[in-house]
Amino acid sequence: MTDIVTITPNPAVDLSTVVDKILPVAKLRGQSQRRDPGGGGINVARVIRRLGGDARAIYPVGGAIGKLLRQLLDKEDIASHTWMIAGETRENFFVDEISAGKQYRFILPGPRLHEVEWKQCLKLVAALEPFPRFLVASGSLPDGVPDDFYAQVARIAKQRGARFVLDTSGPALAAATAEGVDLIKPNLREMRELTGSEPSDAYAWEVAAKQLVETGKATVVALTMGHLGAALVTRDEVLRAPPIPITPRSAVGAGDSFLAALIWRLASGASRADSFRLAVAAGAAALLHPGTELCRPDDVARLAGQVTIETA
Ligand SMILES: Nc1ncnc2c1ncn2[C@@H]1O[C@H](COP(=O)(O)OP(=O)(O)OP(=O)(O)O)[C@@H](O)[C@H]1O
Ligand SMILES: [Mg+2]
Repeated sequence: MTDIVTITPNPAVDLSTVVDKILPVAKLRGQSQRRDPGGGGINVARVIRRLGGDARAIYPVGGAIGKLLRQLLDKEDIASHTWMIAGETRENFFVDEISAGKQYRFILPGPRLHEVEWKQCLKLVAALEPFPRFLVASGSLPDGVPDDFYAQVARIAKQRGARFVLDTSGPALAAATAEGVDLIKPNLREMRELTGSEPSDAYAWEVAAKQLVETGKATVVALTMGHLGAALVTRDEVLRAPPIPITPRSAVGAGDSFLAALIWRLASGASRADSFRLAVAAGAAALLHPGTELCRPDDVARLAGQVTIETA
């Protein structure tokens, strides 16, 4: 049985290439081309699959790019639950500039969803049979979708006795946490927006995360702090993980890889500390290789041995 279903309201096909140098006006000849499925929940499902688990993905399909997205996920052996929309699924564009060792990421807005289209997603979720134990929603909301969309998903999950996991930002995150969710994975920017505060150090950030737990906004806060590491905060414990020393070659996918490993291990019955260890390793592993590639399982296994978990 699949225990994990991900939801991606604004998925993408990520097109990436490599050029020597970025210059205006000149024709910049790409040395390669690559298309990957993209969008928060879709990446979470892909990482879980890579790590040896199983996750289904719910997302809208629009036009030719939408069909391509579905085919790309079929190739990765990820089961899709889709519905058709009138607009065209978006493409994002990534360019690695070799001479400067820089990566440029162009994120496009994607289609506007009509009311009937986003409501169809809620119907699809409510009709999942068997209902998964973990429902993981991740990514931005497309235009036309109300800020309380994820709050509505949280309510469905609650009614069905599933754990609702959310990785998003801004008003959508605020509305869902007002409803109460099981696990959120804010980075520092998202925490700042959500709490309206600017803690001065890692300890103060953990206190802010603890307040979210104590006020019922989330049962677990997985606070990720980029190169500063991460903390896993619940009512009765705070686990801290200093970062693994790595040289980042890419800026893509650390958050999605972290969340995927965390949920996969938790769903498999591992302890919070063990799940957190693998998550920190997966976040760092995502950054080891240039381009849009997600974490590689051998890197995750190797780096997991380097993660230290401290109890506050
Ligand atoms: N430079 C780094 N060095 C070591 N580990 C890192 C680095 N950047 C990220 N990580 C690991 O990956 C985790 C998730 O990264 P981050 O906090 O940047 O998530 P995010 O902002 O959601 O990322 P994304 O841009 O993918 O959405 C971090 O908590 C950390 O464990
Ligand atoms: Mg993120």
